[in-house]
Amino acid sequence: MGRKRKKSLDQSDPVLIELPLRDEEEVALPQLKRAIWTENKAQLIRRYLFLFGLVTRHGTYIDGFAGPQQPDKPAMWAAKLVLEMRPAFLRHFHLCEKAKYKVKMLESLKREQPEREKGKKLGRTIDVYAGDFNKSIRRILRAGAINDSAVFCLLDQRTFECHWATVKLIADYKRGAPTKIEQFYFLATSWIERSFSGFTRNKQVVSGWWGRADWLEVMKWSWNRVLEETTLRFRQELGYKHVRAYPIYADKDLGSRVMYHMIHATDHDAAPELMTRAYNTALKTKGVQMQFENLFAAE
Ligand SMILES: C[S@@+](CC[C@H](N)C(=O)[O-])C[C@H]1O[C@@H](n2cnc3c(N)ncnc32)[C@H](O)[C@@H]1O
Repeated sequence: MGRKRKKSLDQSDPVLIELPLRDEEEVALPQLKRAIWTENKAQLIRRYLFLFGLVTRHGTYIDGFAGPQQPDKPAMWAAKLVLEMRPAFLRHFHLCEKAKYKVKMLESLKREQPEREKGKKLGRTIDVYAGDFNKSIRRILRAGAINDSAVFCLLDQRTFECHWATVKLIADYKRGAPTKIEQFYFLATSWIERSFSGFTRNKQVVSGWWGRADWLEVMKWSWNRVLEETTLRFRQELGYKHVRAYPIYADKDLGSRVMYHMIHATDHDAAPELMTRAYNTALKTKGVQMQFENLFAAE
């Protein structure tokens, strides 16, 4: 298939992720057919990890910013949906959070999880880390601590909380697998330009987030340039084989405003297609979704 012409990042374009650096393989990926909007991001993550679990049958989940964004809406809480997902393919969970009251919520979520189901031990470990994720990650990734071949790391920051050094540490972590830890990285495209102007007095924040000498220059960039460069960095600087940015909309209409992007960086050849499938099916109605999941889980 020939390389498509570079498209603009027009907000009304339903594909929207026509990034210029896609390789031939990515051009061949299925297109996004439905909108995922901000309320449903956790459903997307859950659905992807369900499909991921069907392939791997095991796995480790690291959630760097794991407290609920809206504590009164548990159905939108990714960590909860992932822990409650069945079959319980994922075995090890590392949940990090800075706000004390949300750490308590994570501790209660952990306590609520059953140890056994249908007479069988689930054999899962759930660790909650209080404090700054940029520090906790060093404990999680101490040498030899994670040996799982399938590791997914969710970096669902609000804007600038996740340091680039952290993203790099995750990408560089060596374990007994040829692939890097998979990352799902939040980029605040719709408010990043506004946030840059608000952060001129607190420059350390942007400097740590961007983690490169040109950070002052980057603060003058448009959101689409930041998006393009961030995906490029995942690919070229961190060496991920597949990098794709998924738009998360303001509401269910593909023509509505894009609120932010989730950048998926992975070395697994099957993973981009699984994520696209998850994106297109995450919002199937509950009954249909359960049938779909049962069908796959039974295989
Ligand atoms: C966008 S929310 C995460 C939403 C969550 N993934 C969900 O599904 O609802 C970001 C979370 O990160 C927490 N946070 C902010 N800075 C942090 C840091 N440096 N380390 C760990 N957590 C942090 C916030 O308290 C907040 O709970």
